[in-house]
Amino acid sequence: MLQDSHGRRFSYLRLSVTDVCNFSCNYCLPDGYQCTDKTEPLTLDEIRQLAITFAKLGTRKIRITGGEPSVRRDLPDIIRIVADTPGITEVAITTNGYRLPEFLPSWIDAGLTKLNVSIDSLDTRQFQAITGHDRLQDLLKGLELAHELGFNNIKVNAVLMREHNADQLPQFLHWLRDTPISLRFIELMQTGENKEFFAANHVSGDDIKKQLLSQGWQPALRKPDDGPAQEFWHPDYAGRIGLIMPYSKDFCSTCNRLRISSVGKLHLCLFGEHGYDLRPLLSEQKSDQLKQEIRMSLSEKKATHFLHDGESGAISHFAMIGG
Ligand code: 5AD
Ligand code: SF4
Repeated sequence: MLQDSHGRRFSYLRLSVTDVCNFSCNYCLPDGYQCTDKTEPLTLDEIRQLAITFAKLGTRKIRITGGEPSVRRDLPDIIRIVADTPGITEVAITTNGYRLPEFLPSWIDAGLTKLNVSIDSLDTRQFQAITGHDRLQDLLKGLELAHELGFNNIKVNAVLMREHNADQLPQFLHWLRDTPISLRFIELMQTGENKEFFAANHVSGDDIKKQLLSQGWQPALRKPDDGPAQEFWHPDYAGRIGLIMPYSKDFCSTCNRLRISSVGKLHLCLFGEHGYDLRPLLSEQKSDQLKQEIRMSLSEKKATHFLHDGESGAISHFAMIGG
């Protein structure tokens, strides 16, 4: 198993397959996707090589991210390649839910085991204001379809924003009474391009935590390989809640993930300075070199990010690397 010099183990890889996105979320790509780099994204063969090598190094779970992964027509092939890799037991995807009812059956058929969609507001208009697209109802239909198909490993991400949804906890709670999903409130993070938006909209997850505790929500017990989310459950609710608070103390001590960008760079931290280019090593003959390079790079992983010093690293927005 991959381990860094701070004793953290890495069994989880987030693999971005494109930096293109068809939404324009206000915190990420407010002006929509702009093509700045014409480098082609990872090919199916390169993705296969990465999956095989990381699996040999102890990776068990691979999450496919973007941009928006479904803009790739060959997404079902990507899912299948990852799912068929010996050693990989979980194949997850993070999607904005665009055309979810249409796409989901082919993803499940290809071997998807976990689904993560973004819903920053349950109010149709507000959803459109945040993402630039009137797609909420379609997305909710996709989630219903998932349940009908017996697919229950669903998480929903909501980025907390002072001016856009921080007052909408009651609506989310109402929804969770009968909806068996895990809702993740994610603190807005600063990136290279959202500094002003961040200053106006960042709210700490602590307020939500206080409200949850006062309403009978209980912290869930942590399992050894759990990531940085703090989970809560409530006997009267079908859904659960997770809080992701990157600005809180000790957030980084539970880091269990590595990231690959859509052009094959290994990023040790979402807020790191640069990626290690693995692309030249993505062929069968270079598999041992690739393993060596991953191990060596990992020894440089820092104990924590430097967000508290106002340093958000080299990422201008998370579509570059999939959050
Ligand atoms: N802060 C927090 N989360 C973000 N995401 C994207 N940009 C940010 C940001 N600046 C997350 C959202 C989205 C996922 C793809 O990435 O949760 O759902
Ligand atoms: Fe696209 Fe995700 Fe960024 Fe929204 S947050 S613009 S869906 S990449």
